[in-house]
Amino acid sequence: MGTLTQSPAWQRLLAHKASLGSHLRDLFERDTQRFEHFSASGAGIFLDYSKNRITRETLDCLIALARQQDVEAWRDAMLRGDRINTTENRAVLHTALRNRSNTPVMMEGLDVMPMVNEGLAKMRAFSEAVREGQWTGFSGKPIKDIVNIGIGGSDLGPCMAAEALKPYGHPDLSVHFVSNVDATHIYETLRHLDPATTLFIVSSKTFTTDETLTNAASARTWLIGASEDPGALAKHFVAVSTNLSEVERFGIPAENMFPFEDWVGGRYSLWSPIGLSLAVFIGMDAFEEMLSGAHEMDIHFRDTPLAKNLPVLLALMGIWNINFEGMSAHAILPYDQYLAHLPAYLQQLDMESNGKTVDRQGRPVNYATGPVIFGEPGTNGQHAFYQLIHQGWPRISADILFPALSLHPLADHHIKLLANALAQGEALMRGKTAEEARAELVAAGLPPETIGRLLPHKIFAGNHPTNTLMVDRMTPRRLGALLALYEHKIFVQGIIWNINSFDQWGVELGKQLAKPLLAELRGSQPQPHDSSTAGLFREIAKVRSRAI
Ligand code: F6P
Repeated sequence: MGTLTQSPAWQRLLAHKASLGSHLRDLFERDTQRFEHFSASGAGIFLDYSKNRITRETLDCLIALARQQDVEAWRDAMLRGDRINTTENRAVLHTALRNRSNTPVMMEGLDVMPMVNEGLAKMRAFSEAVREGQWTGFSGKPIKDIVNIGIGGSDLGPCMAAEALKPYGHPDLSVHFVSNVDATHIYETLRHLDPATTLFIVSSKTFTTDETLTNAASARTWLIGASEDPGALAKHFVAVSTNLSEVERFGIPAENMFPFEDWVGGRYSLWSPIGLSLAVFIGMDAFEEMLSGAHEMDIHFRDTPLAKNLPVLLALMGIWNINFEGMSAHAILPYDQYLAHLPAYLQQLDMESNGKTVDRQGRPVNYATGPVIFGEPGTNGQHAFYQLIHQGWPRISADILFPALSLHPLADHHIKLLANALAQGEALMRGKTAEEARAELVAAGLPPETIGRLLPHKIFAGNHPTNTLMVDRMTPRRLGALLALYEHKIFVQGIIWNINSFDQWGVELGKQLAKPLLAELRGSQPQPHDSSTAGLFREIAKVRSRAI
């Protein structure tokens, strides 16, 4: 097999791109049905992708690329539990966690659904006990604060979803997320809390992650210090992990552990017991609603023809923009304050999955893969970084997301929010020509010299692609569908780029190098380092010795 860039479908796309040449606004002028041609819906999500610089032929070529790369066969392999994560020799079965149809999912001859259902039942019993005040702390008082201690996928998903679904949260419970090994994070979280009414959920797939164990140890000291009873641990600590022996070594009893399997990847684990903090906060019914939304999207992904399949379409727009339009950054712009943490969540989901430069066979790739993901809720981002998207040097694509209805219909806030969301998509697409800018300046009565001076600054190139994603309301079900949509989009892109989206070896080197540096900071014999690292080490030591 030749490389992807030499393949017929890729070559056809290159030839097509060379002949395309039109500005997005021209494409809209030429085809008044563009919106109808380039929009689709599924699982309660409406997608308008007409503001990408594509024609019907582009879409045909992209779908041919998806077929050539066997997207459908790979999708089916993932859904049936094949070990498609080959560098870790693991299946990728997060879809089984939300398989609300409860049909058997056979992995190597074993149906995983009884295990999944058992996990959900344990989560339900626990979350109800906490929510109803039956689970009490060392002094007999019910729990008021839940602190999830985890990092990466064991933090970002539940943290993002707890914010997104805040209106569904228990009125007497607060949920907090501690991830950073920086003591500030746990200090600032715990200083307002009462140990007698605080429950810690230590979430770590491996239970060896240094940040999480350091934070959990400090939380344990805080709790035992207040309760003066090591036995209090069992009332205030539960663990979510795949590693029973490490959980027990930490001091958490086996009955307080919520297990899951190694076929759940860290960044795909929100649906597993890693979502426990969220489940306690919003209740198991709402949590299962979220699973149902994700399941609806899984069914849509499995059964819908490629040309109407939302994850496939989003993936193909990304491939087009990255590989053929030369974009290396993609903005996530939710016009929904509750989705404030969605960009951070998608950063891990996308960048840890597709930030790779060798293909599945271990060969270097000669094409761009995953983009830089960034974002902020609109309208805040408009007053910060949108300038660069509109008029800056890099070309950036974006997803604009919004609910048509607000959960807080206060005065005219929501229609203002919607107007801004639509205006940004339109502005990015159309831009403003020199003629239009000049006409505005003339209409404002400015003298010719001022017009000449200002004109270059007033021009917008436009032609910036956006996808617009709409839901009716941001409910648990819709959130589930939205997240599953992004998961599958990223999966499809990984298949097309022929990379393994499910490992993350790139995070290892920094972890490895931190170990000897930590020992040196503790006073062990200095190791040889480059002059920058060694110099910085000496500067740190100087400051620290003065402070002691
Ligand atoms: O950063 C690497 C990583 O392995 C992520 O993939 C994962 O989500 C995170 O660390 C946390 O890992 P664990 O759940 O094992 O503590």
